[in-house]
Amino acid sequence: MSMSENVRRQMVEGSWIRRMFEEGNALRALHGADKVFDLSLGNPIVEPPAELKAELLKLAEHPIPGMHRYMANAGYEETRAAVAAELERETGVTMSFRDIVMTCGASGAMNVALKTLLNPGEEVIVLAPFFVEFLSYVDNHGGKPRIVMTGSDFLPDMEKLERAIGPQTKALILNSPNNPTGVVYSDHVIRQLGELLARKEAEFGHQIYIISDEPYRRILFDGLTPVPVFQYYHNAILVTSHSKDLALPGERIGYLALNPESDEHDELMAGFIHSNRVLGFVNAPALMQHLVTGLQNVTVSVPEYERKRDLLYNELKGMGYDVVRPQGAFYVFPKAPVDDDVEFVRELLSLLVLVVPGRGFGWPGHFRAAYCIDNRTLEGSLDGFRKAAVRHGLTR
Ligand SMILES: Cc1ncc(COP(=O)(O)O)c(C=O)c1O
Repeated sequence: MSMSENVRRQMVEGSWIRRMFEEGNALRALHGADKVFDLSLGNPIVEPPAELKAELLKLAEHPIPGMHRYMANAGYEETRAAVAAELERETGVTMSFRDIVMTCGASGAMNVALKTLLNPGEEVIVLAPFFVEFLSYVDNHGGKPRIVMTGSDFLPDMEKLERAIGPQTKALILNSPNNPTGVVYSDHVIRQLGELLARKEAEFGHQIYIISDEPYRRILFDGLTPVPVFQYYHNAILVTSHSKDLALPGERIGYLALNPESDEHDELMAGFIHSNRVLGFVNAPALMQHLVTGLQNVTVSVPEYERKRDLLYNELKGMGYDVVRPQGAFYVFPKAPVDDDVEFVRELLSLLVLVVPGRGFGWPGHFRAAYCIDNRTLEGSLDGFRKAAVRHGLTR
């Protein structure tokens, strides 16, 4: 029994997606891959945009001397400046390379932020339903996650939040567009959150940070545009990546941006850069930094995801499922027609459709379906969803 109790517990509690992956493999071996409809993973099947290949070829043909060496732990100044320029264009907030640290994805950036901020026992508010890794990331750095349920339509419930924020609160993690619900917070919601936290900072006499996790920030539908959290709150940290907008999750390239108006900007930036090093990331991958420098205004085809959203949402709704209409990312989070989400997920499994039970996101009674998949699989899953809906009297 060499493994720590903590890791053992995390592996049991956080393993729903992995368990579904293994169930899927068993089903594929039994029935053939084309008979199994896997909506369990948030691993986009789209290829990166053509511009990435062009940048790769350019770099292969004209290598930059020293391009594989160690660098400053924050990343290349040129890459950080390109990120800052695009963020400035998007948010209207004046930014420079001094506000950016290049990281190993949004996950790397979140760990850098939490390591830099947390003293043992300090609390981080996590809104449920949540991306389950948030709990481990807070725990990694000695913090305590404080889970607060969202309200109707999975939007933050300001009264519950107000009650949850106390003298130990150091940060609030936001995630919009949201995994698992696909819900997007409006300007109005972010403004309200900013006002609440500013009031609480004054009440408790210390900084409370928003860590805004936005890997899906450019996967927005219905004409929506990213909401600039920096405009609504001073002590805000944006953590994001190119895992989804450039379809590069395996390449581990992302960044952390600190609001230039934050109270302790320079000290915190120095802390983030230090944490990037001592967490063992050292720096974000050099090759990827070179590539994404020129791709800051490029994104995978969002209309393609929007069409998949329309298809799955409209079909599920038509079958009688109770489902909030997602406006971003590539997930839907319907209510299961029985109380026990695991039982319902097993029923869908027997119909060769794979989804993830809501309890894997701290929200039992629902299930998550990911539609970042090919249309054949998406359309093939509908029969299973329909049969389950008929069995439970949602539709005839
Ligand atoms: C909400 C959320 N945050 C963070 C991540 C991690 O992304 P990255 O690949 O940038 O580390 C994911 C990945 O699925 C996610 O869904």
